[in-house]
Amino acid sequence: MEFPKELITFLRAVSSLAVLTGAGVSAESGLATFRDAQTGLWARFRPEELATPKAFARQPKLVWDWYAMRRAQALAAKPNPAHWALAEMERHVPDFTLITQNVDGLHQAAGSRNVVPLHGNIRRVRCAQCGFYPPSWPEDSEQVPRCSQCNGLLRPDVVWFGESLPSWALRRAIQASERAQAFLIVGTSALVQPAASLWKFCAQQGGTVIEVNLERTILSDKVDYGLYGPAGRVLPALVEAVWGVT
Ligand code: APR
Repeated sequence: MEFPKELITFLRAVSSLAVLTGAGVSAESGLATFRDAQTGLWARFRPEELATPKAFARQPKLVWDWYAMRRAQALAAKPNPAHWALAEMERHVPDFTLITQNVDGLHQAAGSRNVVPLHGNIRRVRCAQCGFYPPSWPEDSEQVPRCSQCNGLLRPDVVWFGESLPSWALRRAIQASERAQAFLIVGTSALVQPAASLWKFCAQQGGTVIEVNLERTILSDKVDYGLYGPAGRVLPALVEAVWGVT
């Protein structure tokens, strides 16, 4: 895969880089993206109908089961070459921040260290009432498991539509974006805010914005470089071209 020479030279000299990833980076690990149609039992629901506080209040077991299914998929999934390439990139850039919208934990599994999980972590569960994090919970119960501290319902530790992002995560994401000389957007349709606008903090300081995606998105006309193809192919090729690591 060929990359513009000036992009390779520029990235070699970059000391501060922020990356934003979306579901597309986990697609080659076999995890469906949000814009993929849901399958099987869940085909008749859209994520926007299930990933909300209202849906959980109205049908807690349905929402719990959807996340239990996705948690099992995430735990069974393995990082793919896109995750490995981002972990490798971090070893070559002194100030590297990986901001992710994904809740599958695959970046951490691939060895990425400075990860900002904007939308939470599907592998963790918390009490919807008192915020307690149980170390374990029954996965096969007929009812939604309850909190051992206050008997409130347990819920996935992810950000639902309409909920605010953890303020510490958003602050770290903005600060990293403001410092970055380059902002790499990988595998996101850039439809969900505020994640989809983080690149602007970098561009406003004169930084370079690079999109890696399977197809063009609403950001494609705004970025400095667009690299289109599967992230599992593009990212390893980019790391190899810039830092000579395969
Ligand atoms: N390599 C690169 N990009 C890919 C690949 C791949 N192998 N497969 C799919 N894509 C791209 C798609 O073209 C699409 O642009 O990844 C993007 C996935 O977009 P979405 O499914 O919208 O996922 P995402 O952008 O992460 O959604 C953002 O929306 O539903 C909420 O909170 C949820 O975090 C999620 C947020």
